[in-house]
Amino acid sequence: MALSNIQLTPQFVQAVRDVVDVVDIAAEHTRLRKSGRRQTGRCPLHREKTPSFSVDPEQGLFYCFGCGRGGDAIKLHMLLSGDDFPAAIESLARRYGVPLPPPRQQRGGPREPDLEPALEAAARFFVESLERSRETQAYLEKRRIPPELVERFGVGYAPDGWTNLLEALHPRIPLIDLKAAGLVGLSQKSGKHYDRFRQRLMFPIRAASGRLLGFGGRTLADDPAKYINSTETAAFRKGHVLYGVDLAKRAIRESSTALMVEGYFDVVGAVASGVEATVATMGTALTEEQTRLLSRFSSDVVVGYDGDEAGEQAFQRALPLLLSQGLTVRRARFGKDQDPDSLRTSAGPEAVFEAVTQAEDAVLMELERLIPPAVHQDPRLQARAGKQVSELLLSVRDSILRYSYSRKAADRLGVPVEILLRRRVGGKTDPEPERPSQESQTGPKLVRSLEEQALQLLLVGGEELPPPGDLPAAEVFLIPECRNIYRAFCDLYRGGGGRRPAAREVLASVPLDSQEVDQMARLLLEGSIAEEATGLSVALGQLNRRWLQQCVRALSSQISEAQRAGDEGRLRTLLEEKTALSRALHGGREE
Ligand code: UTP
Ligand code: MN
Repeated sequence: MALSNIQLTPQFVQAVRDVVDVVDIAAEHTRLRKSGRRQTGRCPLHREKTPSFSVDPEQGLFYCFGCGRGGDAIKLHMLLSGDDFPAAIESLARRYGVPLPPPRQQRGGPREPDLEPALEAAARFFVESLERSRETQAYLEKRRIPPELVERFGVGYAPDGWTNLLEALHPRIPLIDLKAAGLVGLSQKSGKHYDRFRQRLMFPIRAASGRLLGFGGRTLADDPAKYINSTETAAFRKGHVLYGVDLAKRAIRESSTALMVEGYFDVVGAVASGVEATVATMGTALTEEQTRLLSRFSSDVVVGYDGDEAGEQAFQRALPLLLSQGLTVRRARFGKDQDPDSLRTSAGPEAVFEAVTQAEDAVLMELERLIPPAVHQDPRLQARAGKQVSELLLSVRDSILRYSYSRKAADRLGVPVEILLRRRVGGKTDPEPERPSQESQTGPKLVRSLEEQALQLLLVGGEELPPPGDLPAAEVFLIPECRNIYRAFCDLYRGGGGRRPAAREVLASVPLDSQEVDQMARLLLEGSIAEEATGLSVALGQLNRRWLQQCVRALSSQISEAQRAGDEGRLRTLLEEKTALSRALHGGREE
């Protein structure tokens, strides 16, 4: 679909949202059957034999219990057509006869932007600029990046200043292309065009085929935005790409193993340490598309994320995804707060190479974390660990592998293996191996978490809402997606002068391709809440209490620390804080 430079005013977008029919869009790609208020069918977004795709015309939403994707009609259209947001709005407007706003500039009529020449020209410009910048070369030397790798990865330099690239490439490359490629922006204030990448080290990001998709630029000044990436375009979707895959694919195929790291420098650093088969997720949560891309080339993945809390979390989220794609997973450890590149410069390339070759089975490591020795002192802990473990095991595709992990888990947990294999699969002793395992992972959950219940009650419940000022802080939600949804809800609620925002408005106010949208769609389509849910005020109260308890626990450990350190002043403030918190916790209940 052509992107004809029309202006996406909020009114225009709203007008399109108002008329688009999610059933219409879905029905073009799959046969739907009516089932109560909903329509169900086979998911048009992934291959499946049994229908797990559900559309709710009233709410204007879809959700697939198989692949876990959901959202409104616009998102469905985007997923099915590959259109990006502006293109989707335009094409849907045409289809439903919403009058288009006047184009931004009319000269010569609209034409499709041509990204590739613009990107390639920019890549050359960045490389030439690096050749001219002694300072940037010195930076690379200081970071001990070998010159041959600078060349191989096409690393370049975006000079300081607002129009260097513009002046070098324009008018040879038309503005419309430079803008569409995310290289040039237009200032609202001055009406002038400017370079988006300034004083940054530039990493070209390429598809597996070698096609240039965009750039990641690391600041060489102290810009708080450490990295800027190309804007998401139809061609460049960060979540669909793995950095370095074009150069690594051969080595990955040959060894059937890939090292997966977080960032650009980690890829270069790992290659410099002798691990050629390295790709990076570019700092965001691993997606299904990336996992599929990886599994095209390899069957075994070594996850080499940063040794910090964020890296740990990213690993825990990535593991089931990788397993359910049929990959075996190992985990390399680089030491606390180290990433592959920092370990290379501090301890030498051998240390990185060793960490990768000695990477251990990630499931076994995860079992050790999930089943701490303390579970044997508390049946409830044991039950919880059992549940988490069997959930993880369900994503293991190979049935023998799954069985053998289960044996180890059962031993550690001190229960017969059958119990683990039987959990959550509705009486079947063993999930069928052919069944795509995302299905079991994201399929209808038997128990919804307290956070999800609270959100659902907020979004669809008939209960009256407390006044905006009485809603608990967003921090009481510990699951990031839930917290973001809650925050969006509260913002709209407050902004709307106490009117309850419709679920669709909340959905429209979080980024379309975020996990939040999928999750909300699930909550909204998962059917009745009556039987399991507590009331709204009870749910919110529980969340608030849980959070306070957590704060108290954190304070307690700070208190013991202060005691140990003999820091009287700090101890006093901490104790006061704790008293206040405990009071809120125990005295603050009205009923
Ligand atoms: P890191 O902050 O770990 O950066 O982010 P790094 O790659 O180790 O860089 P150096 O060594 O500190 O210079 C890891 C990756 O996350 C993405 C980038 O892909 C980065 O390489 N990222 C990080 C962003 O896209 N934006 C950011 O602001 C930060
Ligand atoms: Mn890092």
